[in-house]
Formats: sequence, structure tokens, C-alpha cells
Amino acid sequence: MLNENPLPPLASVAEEIARGAGSINRYPEFYPEHLQSVVAEWLGFPEEWVVVGSGSVGVALQALQAHVRPGNGLVYGWRNFDAYPLLADMTGARAVQVPLLPGGHQDLTGVAKEAAADADAVIVCNPHNPTGQLLSADELEEFIGLIPADTLIVLDEAYIEFVERSQRPDSLKWVRQYPNLLVLRTFSKAYGLAGMRVGYGVAHPEMAERINKFRLPYSMSSLSVVAVEASIREQRELEDRVRHIVAERERVVRGLTESGWSVLPSHTNFLWLDEPARVDQVGAALDRVGVRARLYPGDGVRLTIGERASNDAVLSALSSPR
Ligand SMILES: Cc1ncc(COP(=O)(O)O)c(C=O)c1O
Repeated sequence: MLNENPLPPLASVAEEIARGAGSINRYPEFYPEHLQSVVAEWLGFPEEWVVVGSGSVGVALQALQAHVRPGNGLVYGWRNFDAYPLLADMTGARAVQVPLLPGGHQDLTGVAKEAAADADAVIVCNPHNPTGQLLSADELEEFIGLIPADTLIVLDEAYIEFVERSQRPDSLKWVRQYPNLLVLRTFSKAYGLAGMRVGYGVAHPEMAERINKFRLPYSMSSLSVVAVEASIREQRELEDRVRHIVAERERVVRGLTESGWSVLPSHTNFLWLDEPARVDQVGAALDRVGVRARLYPGDGVRLTIGERASNDAVLSALSSPR
């Protein structure tokens, strides 16, 4: 329901975490510099281009604290990830919400227009939560070029690993070109570490330094670096799991479409049922088989892809003709 990875941690990752638990009487690093260097080396970036935080939402908060002056605009498409309005509240930003286009796409032209009018920051979510829609590299690059150089651009790629490789925008190369761009990613989704709270961002060193000023001392648990190192070692297996989730996603899309539901094609580990008039009906049918989905009354239903058995339960709960 929270778009988590449905599979339990890999045994080797859980073992490393258990071993690390033996030293939790000690503080972690004052600032998570070792974790930062592990992530930087993995990405092939120098350390000063990488920031880490308590989930990608933690990194986003630090970035907005560093860039947004109270009362100034923070622009994003709406609907979107629920945390964006919370981040606006926490930083005292004026939230400027640009309605989605039909089909669940963010209106980049509308967001750019608002950004040009008056904003300190914009957030774009790609692929998008909750609709699962993907913006292409061309669309994004054109958009980034339209944003004033002193406006922070947060490109939230929490679900990027679920996008087919040939369609994934090569966003990390843009951070070298655009010093106002922060690409945000996470170990919570594809890497299955949601409970560990590790997110990261890549940005120009000057921006990374500003973001790092808002780190809280000792805020990253000593187990988070253990979990990340173990997950990086097991990357191949984790990628196999992503392929499995993507295959399940496609199976569920086909099944629901054949049963007559309007489902948007997805690039994430969840689906959007574009059924504004049947949200309650879907919710009740899923309830009966013990599956929880996120209901957006009058709008649609976001359904996280689960393990095969729960996907089967969804397909059978929603199989009857409408
Ligand atoms: C679009 C988006 N960004 C960020 C996050 C938060 O991820 P994290 O666990 O890294 O804070 C989520 C989680 O649901 C999300 O949907």
C-alpha cells in the first residue's frame, strides 16, 4: 500500500544487519560520511556530488530548507507524492500546485510557467506517484532548461529502477550541466530497505554543500550503512527481484484490462486504476480479499504490486464483469 518492495530482505542483507546490531550501543558517525562515500563510489561520482539522508524525503527536506525562503513558492504537479505539501508546510513555502494533465502526466509547461512567475523551488516526480506515468528524457531536459538558474529543481526518481532501461532518462548526467538540479533516489523501493531510511541525492558540489548544512548530527543509523553496503554487493539479485515485480505488474495490468478496468500503463511498482466513479467499489472488492490499496475518492485507486498470491487475489477480486 505504501509502494514498498513486497519481498522480505535478502538473507545476506538481514544477516549483515543482525551482525551490525551487535554494536548499536555505539553512536553512528557524526555525519554519515562513510555512507556518502559508499554511495558515491557505487554511482561513480566524487563524494562531494552526493548527499545522503533519512530517506529521500529527508534529503528533499534538507534541500528545501537550504533553498526556499518562507512564503516563497514551491511548485509541483498535483496530485503527487503526499509528502510534498508536508515539505512545503515544514519549510514555510507557499505550495503552488499545478493540476495533472489528463492521463496522469505532470504538466511541465504549467510548472515551468509558475516557476518563472515566482518560486524558489520545483519538484518533479518521475516516474510519477500515484499515476505511474513516465516523463521522457526530452521532455525533462526541455523543462529543466526553462527553469530559472536560481530556482532549485528536485527531480524525484524514487521509482526509477522499475522503468525499463531503454526508457530511463540519464538524469545523473544533467547534474553536471545544471547546478540547480538535485536528482533524488532511494534505497526504500527497488532495494527493499524502506525501514532503514536511506535516500540519496546527486547535485553540483556547491548545492550538495548547502544541502549538507541541514544534516542532523548522528541522524543516520549505523545499520543503514551496513544495509546499503550489503545491498550493493547483492545488486544483481535485487535487480532480478525488480524484474520479477515488473513482470507481475504487467501481468496484473493485462488481467485488469481484460476484466474491463481502466488501468494506466505503469513504470513503477504500483498501478493506477483510472476509475473515478468506482473507487469505493474497488476498495470494497479488495477489502473482501484482505488487500489494502490507496483510495483517492473521486479520482482513482493506487494499487501496489505485491507477491504473486496477493496479485492473484486482486485479479480474482476484480475479475467479475462490471
Ligand atoms: C515519489 C516518492 N518520493 C519519495 C518517497 C520516499 O521515499 P523514502 O523512503 O526514500 O523517503 C516516496 C515514498 O513513497 C515516493 O513515493
